[in-house]
Amino acid sequence: MKVKNIRIRIEEYAQGEHLPEPDRLLLDEAREATRTSYSPYSEFRVGAAVLLENGLVIRGSNQENASYPLGLCAERVALFHANAVYPELKVVAIAISAEAQNFVTRSPVTPCGGCRQVMAEVENRRDAPIRIIMSGQEGVIQLVHGIEDLLPLSFREDNLKKKREE
Ligand code: THU
Repeated sequence: MKVKNIRIRIEEYAQGEHLPEPDRLLLDEAREATRTSYSPYSEFRVGAAVLLENGLVIRGSNQENASYPLGLCAERVALFHANAVYPELKVVAIAISAEAQNFVTRSPVTPCGGCRQVMAEVENRRDAPIRIIMSGQEGVIQLVHGIEDLLPLSFREDNLKKKREE
């Protein structure tokens, strides 16, 4: 038996402090995007902003449905939009933030497992890591430099290929 340890790296910034300028601007866009959230059921407004390699920013927000499971997270709305409209452009970064109806969000919104898997696919497709900036309205901002730090051992295209018998 072997034990493999996996190290992940998460940068933490105090709100507004030291965050590199492009990431701060992208986070502002994500916060703006919470305004277009359609979330009458959870009353939890999530905004995401995707930065493409040519500098374009694509916003997304969570879109819910009376049939609950059909709703989609802000991250996937933004990433799928980016892929659908600019399939040839790499995704450089994504910022995420949230506002709740009844309380102030004081910890970063960390993407759900499904969105992490979608981010892994976007990275693999273009062979380019995605910076992920996560924030609430207050409290620390967390940043990782690729999905590997949020979703180690993800299911990949390779897993679908038949491997030569050893
Ligand atoms: N949600 C997101 O949009 N992104 C996340 O990272 C976490 C959760 C949405 C889904 C649902 O509309 C609401 O937040 C409550 O779960």
